[in-house]
Amino acid sequence: MRTGRLAVDGGDPVRTSPLDFSRGVGLLGDEERTAVLEVLESRSLFRYYGPNLLGKVAQFEERLAEFTGASHAVATSSGTAALRCALAAIGVGCGDEVIVPSFTFIATVNAVVTAGAVPVFAEIDDSLGLDHADAAAKITQRTTAVVAVHLENVPCDLDPLVAIAGRAGVPLLEDAAQAMGVSYHDQKVGSVGTMGAFSLQLEKNVTAGEGGALVTSDEPLYLRAARYQDQGGQFVTSHMRERGGELDEPFVGENLRMGEIAGAIAGVQLGKLPGLLECLRSSRRRLAGAIGRVEGMTERRIPDPDGEGGSSLSWFLPNAEVARRFSKALQAEGVPCAQMYGGKPVYANRAILERRTASLKGGPWHCAEHPTTVEYRMGLCPTTEELVGRSLTVPVGPTWAERECEQVAEAVHKVAGALL
Ligand SMILES: Cc1ncc(COP(=O)(O)O)c(C=O)c1O
Repeated sequence: MRTGRLAVDGGDPVRTSPLDFSRGVGLLGDEERTAVLEVLESRSLFRYYGPNLLGKVAQFEERLAEFTGASHAVATSSGTAALRCALAAIGVGCGDEVIVPSFTFIATVNAVVTAGAVPVFAEIDDSLGLDHADAAAKITQRTTAVVAVHLENVPCDLDPLVAIAGRAGVPLLEDAAQAMGVSYHDQKVGSVGTMGAFSLQLEKNVTAGEGGALVTSDEPLYLRAARYQDQGGQFVTSHMRERGGELDEPFVGENLRMGEIAGAIAGVQLGKLPGLLECLRSSRRRLAGAIGRVEGMTERRIPDPDGEGGSSLSWFLPNAEVARRFSKALQAEGVPCAQMYGGKPVYANRAILERRTASLKGGPWHCAEHPTTVEYRMGLCPTTEELVGRSLTVPVGPTWAERECEQVAEAVHKVAGALL
């Protein structure tokens, strides 16, 4: 075991060749190629009609619903689009508040703001997921949804979140963009709450480059979401006939549709997901075993260790300065680690902090009819700021064998020996 000078201080790095930590993208191959060519040859690239429609998007939706255990799925052009459709289906809009975790990717918040609602940030806990007690404390008369986010393939603690949303009589929306295939108490995430949204962006478990999907077992919400992604029901409710003729509740939607090429790729990738998760979980077990317990490093709590997706290991270090130095030192040893989202809460983003949208008249916070007292500032969620500031995440790859795990563990011990 190397205990010498840290690479960051000019010593030899533990690893010099790059580590593979791909997800679905690493599995792209002949099956996806064949599926894409099939669609091209059919000349039916649009999901709702064409000279010889193969129905790849519809098949992907059916398989995803079956896979997650939800009754319905709606494919979309992105994970953000899936969130938009879910919020639209719920009816979120002007004057509403939506509880969101203070630690997530900005898209979770953007979807709420572009729906015209005010995001209300709640603390996270040591699982890096939404803290149910703080979420409950932040529910008001205006709250119309609670959004829980499963970060980095780790399910957040859904039981208490389902309970608080139920007590408040508002839907729980799961942002499972980073967690397709992950389970919580033997149920696939996305299907535990009222609705769930997934992303198929390049870094995700199942990828089509871009794409997304939502799932729900609530029929009316499904119908509204399906119509919303299709200009309010342009093709969902009718085709080449009287457009929108079958709508009994017309509303304006957007074009957030998935195309057939993405649907074809997504369908094949979904079939590969169980195998991918098995590989990730076994790499993670091997790595966690090789690292063991390290003095000064507290592991992220995993609410359901059997259900998590195995794509990372996260710890909390004694303080933010040590975490920052640890991260830099580990990277220099050849281990691609990071403080997720720069170790900052999502509201640290200037667009949120300064409450700016593209509208020159201001966003949902400036609605004269529904004045809001919600304010954003650093220090808003002190527990989150403290936790994420000293967090550190090492991604895990699906193809890591004994040697890779041992080297990553060696690098962690080397840096811990020097800095903790
Ligand atoms: C937590 C979370 N929510 C939403 C999204 C948005 O997904 P997309 O990039 O497909 O729009 C992402 C994407 O990374 C995400 O990580």
